[in-house]
Amino acid sequence: MANRILIIGGTGTIGKSLLEALSDTDHEITALARTEDKAVPLQEQGIQTHIGSLGDWDTIEPLLDQIDTIFLLTSPSPEQVALQNGLIDRAKAHDVRKIVKVSAVGAAAGAPIHLGDWHGQIEDHLKASGMEYVILQPHSFMQNVFMSLPTIKEQGAIYQSLGAAKIPMVDTRDVAQACARCLVSDDFNNETFVITGAEAIGYAEVASSLSESSGKNIQYVAITPEAHNQAMKEAGVPDWLADDLTMMSSYWSQKEEHPPSGDLEKITGSRPYTVRDFARDYGDQFK
Ligand SMILES: NC(=O)c1ccc[n+]([C@@H]2O[C@H](COP(=O)([O-])OP(=O)(O)OC[C@H]3O[C@@H](n4cnc5c(N)ncnc54)[C@H](OP(=O)(O)O)[C@@H]3O)[C@@H](O)[C@H]2O)c1
Repeated sequence: MANRILIIGGTGTIGKSLLEALSDTDHEITALARTEDKAVPLQEQGIQTHIGSLGDWDTIEPLLDQIDTIFLLTSPSPEQVALQNGLIDRAKAHDVRKIVKVSAVGAAAGAPIHLGDWHGQIEDHLKASGMEYVILQPHSFMQNVFMSLPTIKEQGAIYQSLGAAKIPMVDTRDVAQACARCLVSDDFNNETFVITGAEAIGYAEVASSLSESSGKNIQYVAITPEAHNQAMKEAGVPDWLADDLTMMSSYWSQKEEHPPSGDLEKITGSRPYTVRDFARDYGDQFK
């Protein structure tokens, strides 16, 4: 039976690839857009849209009676627990059957990193709701390297505080494929998956892959957590997020190599993008 699926976060990085992945499905897809401006490009791709915003509940509740399954993703923010738990409560009240939530690796209520704690609180709330769910906990996105675009362009440098540690970074296009599969299939219901790439990589490999594909000499410069934290704050990253990201890097840098989980391949049945694939596809933007 065709599902009526609501995509929340469809205008973001994962969401755009997710809508593309769902474009040939028989299911009825509606993408939430917060403004008319954001809805137009989706409508031009033939995607049905609904204008609304989590927190502005009058714009959401009338839609929920027509929805079976929800994809739930919002921006990292101190409001995310109130927004996502508010949505979960309303979805339950309107008999929505299932929610697929994007969380983050290491999520657990009470975790010292805000994002881990907030995602953990939402995961607990979703599990306790009685609705069917799938929780996807991605590792660090390869696409985060776009945050280093200014220093790559100006100095050919990626400044990070990960030391020589290797982590199984994942391409957001693969995260989207896993989300799509979990939305249209019930094979993964009521489980939590850690979504990683197929190999542990360090920023030295990211830099060398981007150098090769862009033809520009790009180096990884390992800096101290304090310098990384200060640089992010000076670049306008909110204090709480800069502190979270520094804490994450410090945590990961304590171990030489963090292994992949294999969960992505289990869900999608295909080989994840490697950092060479990522560099091949996006290299031009780093020149
Ligand atoms: N970066 C990483 O390495 C990493 C790793 C693991 C997990 N994660 C998690 O991945 C998620 C971010 O994914 P992403 O990069 O694809 O997100 P993104 O590009 O920042 O997009 C966020 C989406 O949420 C929408 N949104 C925000 N507030 C909303 C509201 N009140 N109502 C409705 N929609 C709202 C945004 O709409 P607008 O377009 O209108 O703003 C946008 O579509 C976060 O939960 C983060 O913790 C990230």
